[in-house]
Amino acid sequence: MRILAIESSCDESAVAVLDEARGLLSHALYSQIDLHRVYGGVVPELASRDHIRRLLPLLRQALADAGTTLAELDGVAYTAGPGLVGALLTGAALARSLAFARGLPAVPVHHLEGHLLAPMLEDEPPPFPHLALLVSGGHTMLIEVRAPGDYHLLGETRDDAAGEAFDKSAKLLGLPYPGGPELARLARVGRAGEFQFPRPMLDRPGFEFSFSGLKTAVSLAAKERPLTDERRADIARGVQDAIVDTLLAKTRRAMEATGLVDVVVAGGVGANLALREGLAQLARRHGGRIYHPRIEFCTDNAAMIAVAGLLRLKAGGAADDLAIHARAQWPLFDLGPLGACDVSLNGKKKTG
Ligand code: KG4
Ligand code: ZN
Repeated sequence: MRILAIESSCDESAVAVLDEARGLLSHALYSQIDLHRVYGGVVPELASRDHIRRLLPLLRQALADAGTTLAELDGVAYTAGPGLVGALLTGAALARSLAFARGLPAVPVHHLEGHLLAPMLEDEPPPFPHLALLVSGGHTMLIEVRAPGDYHLLGETRDDAAGEAFDKSAKLLGLPYPGGPELARLARVGRAGEFQFPRPMLDRPGFEFSFSGLKTAVSLAAKERPLTDERRADIARGVQDAIVDTLLAKTRRAMEATGLVDVVVAGGVGANLALREGLAQLARRHGGRIYHPRIEFCTDNAAMIAVAGLLRLKAGGAADDLAIHARAQWPLFDLGPLGACDVSLNGKKKTG
């Protein structure tokens, strides 16, 4: 089975081709970062317009790189939400139209399920059940993943997402958009302990997060004295340590409560090396290990949408109408189970 997938939920336009037997055949991506940078954040209308410009060339490129044609596809998957509705509609309309023209099933995919299943593309895919820490620009969740499609929320953020906390702090430090990776880069040269920012919710039971207090503390620190390069780096280090410590502490608590020792880290903040290292140590101490997609598949991409789309298609999840599905909000926990996963998506033969 071979599937084409389109992602356009935010500021990345992407197309990928995934083959059940041969693995990922191609993935093409255009990031709109430069377009939005001058505004300090994503401008939804500009994002939609740019997706329209980029998607067809990316589609041609992905098909050519995969050495395939529309005639060889078994389905077309697209991100149907959650995301910016105008942006989602561009990819959804293209995917739905392609599928209609070729008489193929169209598969609406949940963006977060894509993030959660992205590590299945790697040489060592995660075992099920596992614990997932989903940390993106819009979400921060600890999820018990019993099987593909079987997700149980343990806790999420009450306010800002971890990625948002990175981005807002970066903005307060005068760093360019998107702030997360910029702040992480600066944190590497900052000194630990110079700034102690709050680690909220650690004193309370449960698995919830809260990051909105951090920006107030960062704002005060940034205004207190002139921002030299050194001070900026020290604050960046303090911010990263506060976010990473909080994520690690709650993940540890979730591991101990569920007995799950294998941890998937997914979503854009999963690209953060300090977080990855901390999680790897934590999992190792508990006798498990950490699984994450390669760095380029932590942030938005179409390869992850292809994984979720292929599994959904096999589980009968193609849309049974001609509607173009696009949802700004879409609870992950509304998704039905996927059934046993009998495919190995990294292109290697499944053993055992
Ligand atoms: O998953 P993603 O690409 O888009 C959403 O679905 O939200 O996540 C984007 C988020 C942004 O907030 C970005 O700043 C953050 O991930 N991010 C990082 C790093 N790389 C991306 N945050 C911290 N450190 C990084 N290296
Ligand atoms: Zn995302």
